[in-house]
Amino acid sequence: MPARTPVAPDGRLGKAAEHPGFSDPAYLRRREEVAALARGLRVGAPSPVVAYSESEERTWRTVRRALWTAQGEHACRAALEARGQVSIPADHIPQHAEVGSQLRRLTGFVLTAAPGVVENKRFLGSMAEGYFHAVQFVRHPALPLFTPEPDVLHDVLGHGIHLVSPAFADIYRLIGRAAGRIDRADVLQMISDVYWFTLEYGVLDEGGTPKAYGAALLSSYGEIRRLGQARVRPLDIGAMLGTAYDITGYQPVLFAARCLHEVADTLGGFLERLDDDSAARFGRHPGHPALR
Ligand SMILES: [Fe+2]
Repeated sequence: MPARTPVAPDGRLGKAAEHPGFSDPAYLRRREEVAALARGLRVGAPSPVVAYSESEERTWRTVRRALWTAQGEHACRAALEARGQVSIPADHIPQHAEVGSQLRRLTGFVLTAAPGVVENKRFLGSMAEGYFHAVQFVRHPALPLFTPEPDVLHDVLGHGIHLVSPAFADIYRLIGRAAGRIDRADVLQMISDVYWFTLEYGVLDEGGTPKAYGAALLSSYGEIRRLGQARVRPLDIGAMLGTAYDITGYQPVLFAARCLHEVADTLGGFLERLDDDSAARFGRHPGHPALR
């Protein structure tokens, strides 16, 4: 799962490497304990039930409350309508099954447990079958509004909200079907890059104001409130593929569409022509700045 932006509580950029989530031994042991439950599971296997601690529950309550308000002000109408269709508890961390049963009913998607970052072929390709890889661990409690990597809050309050909406789910499936027929890593990375600038960081232009639909923005308390400070460009696949990005900072460039239909049409037109020779056709090579 491509990562998300670190956001310090005061709105400054955080330095991911200095985050206590990377250095606190007790936190790292707990994170590994939760991640280990998902290691080795096949795609679509029932997600493990996690016994969350009171500290983790407190972090969920704090972040869920802050994000709910921030989304209300800065998320696009489609995301807010989707949010209204799903029950995401304020008082406890939902197990995957609690959210997944709602998604399945509305779009056929379920959450499938991941221990952390998943390689592109599996992560993207599984979307064609209605599986979204999601982690279950919770960010470090010392900085509840600041995380340098995806956690259960990102996956539920970002992707979980998307996946109650047929319009969003169709976009995930478009991406999944393309990834399913591609084998070359460099072309899969192209799909991952457009996924990044759309389903993670996309915005819609609503009356001249950028409103968030990307899951990373929806789940980033600091960044969703600073959309006006990014350079917002029109939706353009070629420009996305030529734009390098840093997964540990605010995104300086965002791509805006007029509506989700435009996102689906633009992505669909690009993805249906994609094949294993596409990296060469697009001038991508291992030294390309957007390749990591
Ligand atoms: Fe994500």
